Amino acid sequence: MTVRNDHGINHTEDAMRENNEATARSTTLMISIIVMVLAAGLTVVLGYLSNSSRAQLSDDRGANQKEQGFDRQISENAQQMLEQGKQIFRYDTFGDEAYWTDKLRLHHAIQGSKFGGVGGGVSPKTALAVGLKVDMDALPADLVEKIKKGEVNLDDPATTLALIKLNSVLGVKGSFNQDGSLKAVGLSCAVCHSTVDDAFAPGIGHRLDGWANRDLNVGAIVSLSPDLSVLTSALQVDEATVKKVLASWGPGKFDAELNLDGKAFRPDGKPAATLIPPAFGMAGVNLHTWGGGWGGVTYWNAFVANLELNGQGTFFDARLNDPKKYPVAARAGFGNKRSSTDMVTAKLAALQFYQLAIPPPTPPEGSYDKAAAARGETLFKGKANCAQCHVPPLFTEPGWNTHKAADIGIDDFQANRAPDNSYRTSPLRGLFSHTKGGFYHDGRFATLLDVVNHYNDFKKLSLTEPEKKDLVEYLKSL
Ligand code: HEC
Ligand code: HEC
Repeated sequence: MTVRNDHGINHTEDAMRENNEATARSTTLMISIIVMVLAAGLTVVLGYLSNSSRAQLSDDRGANQKEQGFDRQISENAQQMLEQGKQIFRYDTFGDEAYWTDKLRLHHAIQGSKFGGVGGGVSPKTALAVGLKVDMDALPADLVEKIKKGEVNLDDPATTLALIKLNSVLGVKGSFNQDGSLKAVGLSCAVCHSTVDDAFAPGIGHRLDGWANRDLNVGAIVSLSPDLSVLTSALQVDEATVKKVLASWGPGKFDAELNLDGKAFRPDGKPAATLIPPAFGMAGVNLHTWGGGWGGVTYWNAFVANLELNGQGTFFDARLNDPKKYPVAARAGFGNKRSSTDMVTAKLAALQFYQLAIPPPTPPEGSYDKAAAARGETLFKGKANCAQCHVPPLFTEPGWNTHKAADIGIDDFQANRAPDNSYRTSPLRGLFSHTKGGFYHDGRFATLLDVVNHYNDFKKLSLTEPEKKDLVEYLKSL
């Protein structure tokens, strides 16, 4: 009997409890057999019912309740971790207020002098202009009505404070003083790795967790900070240089290695920043980030929470002690960070679980030509040989998914900033959601056709123009 029948197991346990004398063993066995036989009968009857109900497991919360014992614990654990992970991804700052507030004093820039800060403050219009997004589902209905009627002043920083207080500005978490001024501000993963669907207005809509925010101008936001000394001292440069670097990033980009190696510009003079990648579709993918060899999702999550968001936690990676490759990290002791309170480690499990649960989004109906995409799929797996590295359905290699720069015909600057001196094979699903900013780590290819042309030249694929178009339609369908 392959079906572990929960009823059978329970009845057996009940029976065992009633027959706790050693001499009753045979009786127990008999009862067990009877129960098993009954269970087998039940299984036949219920089998066809449960087959159909199991198919709807995800829609049917009641189904979990039928589970017993450890199976039930697993399901409940999964549900709980998913929910906790979502909260962490969206709202947790890991105590990074100690950086964004105490050091950079970003809260003063946001609220402006009217609330005891500095300068004019950040109006909702300015916030939207630097790519911050507003979750319309966090706004009370009367506020939505007022915005619709144009009764809300979108030029007033006080409105920004109200929006932050409602937890509606994606990835920006505030705490407030009695007088309504901003006491502290911190950032969460959601600021870079989520956006909205613009259902209400550009920049205001329903949350899309895991989507790359390619409008977000991180450099411009950090630049607003009245005190950049934490950066000037870490990088050992003056404030004008820090500002120049921050201004070089532009929308949708950030440099996650600057605070390790201090390299702000490439040898060709272009900014070293990379595009913000999506944080969906990560399940099954071994290595993460553009540069290869850092680690899996939970490695990178711990890295970011501790070293990018500058939360308070514990982080260990002896590779960061290398003073030649990572001089800034080695000076700062990033290879072995121990904050006095650890607000990261306990959250890593649920955060990883949630991230792995975020699927790649499905391209909108009508956004690509189906017939062309089907032809493109054949090319992808055949003549163009893309599937050799982008192995479906993960679209990256199962295993150590990295390649030297020479394998893909580009320079090795960003590759050499990573431990494996290589590039990670990008998983391609949901490409349609991050066309803004271009493709490859630095957006060097503005369109998918540019990417295909690059491979066509570099790999001498001899694709015809219609074939290139078919391949592009397939990429849009992923
Ligand atoms: C300031 C913007 C920013 C914030 C905040 C941020 N990230 Fe990222 N994230 C990036 C960038 C840029 C990269 C690419 C880094 C690289 O390749 O060097 C990245 C890469 C990733 C990746 C790898 C994606 C892939 O394609 O493999 C994951 C996973 C990730 N981030 C998760 C997180 C989590 C979890 C948090 C919160 C703890 C977070 N990020 C906060 C900008 C950000
Ligand atoms: C030798 C392995 C390899 C082959 C073959 C290959 N790729 Fe790639 N691909 C990569 C790597 C590595 C990257 C990451 C480049 C970077 O980080 O800048 C990448 C990136 C991409 C991207 C950019 C993804 C993004 O998020 O910006 C696209 C699109 C892409 N490849 C499509 C293709 C197509 C189409 C083919 C076939 C014509 C192909 N690749 C063949 C390894 C490969």
